[in-house]
Amino acid sequence: MGFIVAVDGPAGSGKGTITKIVSERMNLVSIDTGAMYRCVALDCLNNEIDSTDLDGIENILNNIKIELKNEDGKQKVLLNGKDVSEEIRTAKVDNAVAKYAAVKIIRDKVTPMQRKMGETQNIIMEGRDIGTVVFPNADVKIFLDCSVEERARRRYKQNLEKGINETFEEVLSNIKERHRLETEREVAPFVKAEDAIYIDSSNMTIEEVSDKIIEIIKQKMNKR
Ligand code: DC
Repeated sequence: MGFIVAVDGPAGSGKGTITKIVSERMNLVSIDTGAMYRCVALDCLNNEIDSTDLDGIENILNNIKIELKNEDGKQKVLLNGKDVSEEIRTAKVDNAVAKYAAVKIIRDKVTPMQRKMGETQNIIMEGRDIGTVVFPNADVKIFLDCSVEERARRRYKQNLEKGINETFEEVLSNIKERHRLETEREVAPFVKAEDAIYIDSSNMTIEEVSDKIIEIIKQKMNKR
């Protein structure tokens, strides 16, 4: 088993950016597990398979191939051989993914794929259930929290930069609804692992959060 850093946190907590910075500075392979659920959701949407159609989903899962690649410092996501790095971030996937991520047979397929990635390399893996379900024995567990208002502000700003026209109220209500679906689902609900280190990023800069996590990782690596 490699050295495993688990980072769990809600959408907009900054965990993607922070994971990337920490992975580069600590020489860890970064893995974005949300991208994997986004791939499954996209494959289902493209084939018009609803999140309640378990036979249809089973068929998708039997044929799916998800690859996460790091090319020139950028993460590329391939779904069945096609580059979907941009497509999995569209509003269509954004608004549907939480429903698919709540489906047990989807999680039962994706979780072992994630565990395998930690067998042979040192990783920092970000998601919602990494410290609780995927790697309950991770070397370092971080729970990166952030208030909903601040998360909505960040997402709203990102949207404006991307030219997406959504009001702040719409963004806030989407974030709240996704949070509800993720925390209330029966399978692998999004909760803090008891032994995870809690960091609230609401009033911290990206650098402050990254430095703090790096310090925690260094301490643990020295002990190992
Ligand atoms: O982090 P993200 O927004 O890209 O995640 C996409 C969706 O997948 C979101 O609904 C949460 C879900 N997810 C999950 O259930 N478990 C994970 N380990 C990662 C993401």
